Amino acid sequence: MTTMTTTTNTTVLEAKDVTMRFGGLTAVRSVGLTVNSGEIVGLIGPNGAGKTTFFNCLTGLYVPTEGTVAYKGTVLPPKPHLVTSAGIARTFQNIRLFANMTVLENVLVGRHTRTKEGLWSALLRGPGFKKAEAASHERAMELLEFIGLAHKADHLARNLPYGEQRKLEIARALASEPGLLLLDEPTAGMNPQETRATEELVFAIRDQGIAVLVIEHDMRFIFNLCDRVAVLVQGEKLVEGTSDVVQADERVVAAYLGTPFEGAPGDEEVAEVEAAEAAQETPSAKAAPSTDTRTEDDQ
Ligand SMILES: Nc1ncnc2c1ncn2[C@@H]1O[C@H](COP(=O)(O)OP(=O)(O)OP(=O)(O)O)[C@@H](O)[C@H]1O
Ligand SMILES: [Mg+2]
Repeated sequence: MTTMTTTTNTTVLEAKDVTMRFGGLTAVRSVGLTVNSGEIVGLIGPNGAGKTTFFNCLTGLYVPTEGTVAYKGTVLPPKPHLVTSAGIARTFQNIRLFANMTVLENVLVGRHTRTKEGLWSALLRGPGFKKAEAASHERAMELLEFIGLAHKADHLARNLPYGEQRKLEIARALASEPGLLLLDEPTAGMNPQETRATEELVFAIRDQGIAVLVIEHDMRFIFNLCDRVAVLVQGEKLVEGTSDVVQADERVVAAYLGTPFEGAPGDEEVAEVEAAEAAQETPSAKAAPSTDTRTEDDQ
């Protein structure tokens, strides 16, 4: 791996006022977030809160309706390959590996942004490829050692157990030599031992000088790991702070339990929908469980 960088506290990622609308749905509303060098930052929130959508805005998969994303002071164009070559790498909530390639080949594909030769040359073994091949191979094996999959370098990706596929995704992301790594639910589907190991892996990545932004539903994982945690609820950033501050915030608990609370983002929309439903009240609408509970609690 690269040598450990001395941590001067520079801003690695700065997202400003990012909004993403899909037709009438605002999945992310005016969210700002910074990640500094040396930091592990968590992004949590209930299902459908907009976490993955926000990642997609950061990485150029989506062009945000509003807002900007800057990496180390430069605003990024919303194009995935440009974001990757700028220095942001990610893993996906739904694992995206080349199932019929080997473990090693998957990591080599991740390196293509950092070699002159490019993806097709790497895959087709073009003339320029041979020279870069040895170095790339060495680096890829180093990364496999780092995540503990070197002994499976020649296995097909699709034959790996789920937890190892998640690790391989991380190795592939690291192969682009990022300065910031975005992880979308890295421990989903893992057993407790694998989750613990992933925690250690993320610390080790941070110690290599790579800042990390991580989405997870496993709260113990998040609060152990993160220097700072931001909470998204219904597309809006509700709270941001240290693990202790976020854990102690009753609004966060309420958001997860689904209990309405004063000033909750989306309260106005809920009220509007309920008013509209009440206006054209029918026996079936009245029987809808969601309508019943919300109305009672709101009184
Ligand atoms: N491409 C899309 N088109 C339309 N709506 C979308 C699209 N992507 C996401 N959404 C909607 O945006 C909202 C936020 O979804 P998102 O996947 O970002 O949530 P999440 O916080 O990652 O949830 P989870 O924890 O379940 O992964 C949801 O209502 C979802 O249906
Ligand atoms: Mg998601």
